[in-house]
Amino acid sequence: MSAPERIEVHGHRGARALLPENTLAGYLYAIQAGADFIELDVLATADDALVACHDPVLRRRIYSGPFGTRVVRRMTLAQLKEWDCGARRNPLFRRQSAAPGARIPALTEVLDLASRDGFSFNIEVKTVPKRPHLTPSPARYAELLVALVRERGLEKRVLVQSFDFRVLACVRALAPEIPASALCGFRTREFVALAAAAGVSTVAPYHRAINSRRVSDAHDAGIRVIAWTANRPRDWERLIRAGVDGIITDDPAGLLCHLGRR
Ligand code: G3P
Repeated sequence: MSAPERIEVHGHRGARALLPENTLAGYLYAIQAGADFIELDVLATADDALVACHDPVLRRRIYSGPFGTRVVRRMTLAQLKEWDCGARRNPLFRRQSAAPGARIPALTEVLDLASRDGFSFNIEVKTVPKRPHLTPSPARYAELLVALVRERGLEKRVLVQSFDFRVLACVRALAPEIPASALCGFRTREFVALAAAAGVSTVAPYHRAINSRRVSDAHDAGIRVIAWTANRPRDWERLIRAGVDGIITDDPAGLLCHLGRR
């Protein structure tokens, strides 16, 4: 596999540099900016609705809602919808605007964005292996997710990623036609071994774990490499030179400009 002709731009949690994470407004911004993928996190409610949310236990720093449980898996979808996920700006992103009134989207609402062309969905399935009560089992997650993707005929527009390779195995077993990607952190084994362990042909390492030798070894073995989460031009440039296939970024418009695509 040679160097990619076009680097995929994945809008991390939509476009977190500018809009609250995992909101429809953030996803729409990324789509309109021209991102190739919107990246989102997925959890499940007590009534098994998949929702776009990163935090199994909602952080009051970002989410505002009623007194009571903050555990997504203990709330029904209707209860979760009482929470606002846009009113509080994330202080880590100084250019981020608030979007008061935004609600945590059901995955169905996010997939409805597929009526717009030109982008795909990078869906990260969240688990906390040491706290299994916070999420469905890997098998149940796979069933719920695959059913929604198939119902909408989106198999060719979805990439499923997870740090939890059990989830990837269940998705692959149920729906081998849906591509899957193995997330990993800074301390990772070599990418080819990682892909083999996860049974996938795409790996998504933390961007600082990436260098050109590792990418070239991966490409020689037919493995794609998508970096997360790089937000600075100097990191983008290093990853471009390393030959990555895609970059997950909180600033998809900025990366598209950097690539000369805006
Ligand atoms: O998109 C992958 C990367 O962002 C994983 O980390 O914390 O955003 O789920 P996190």
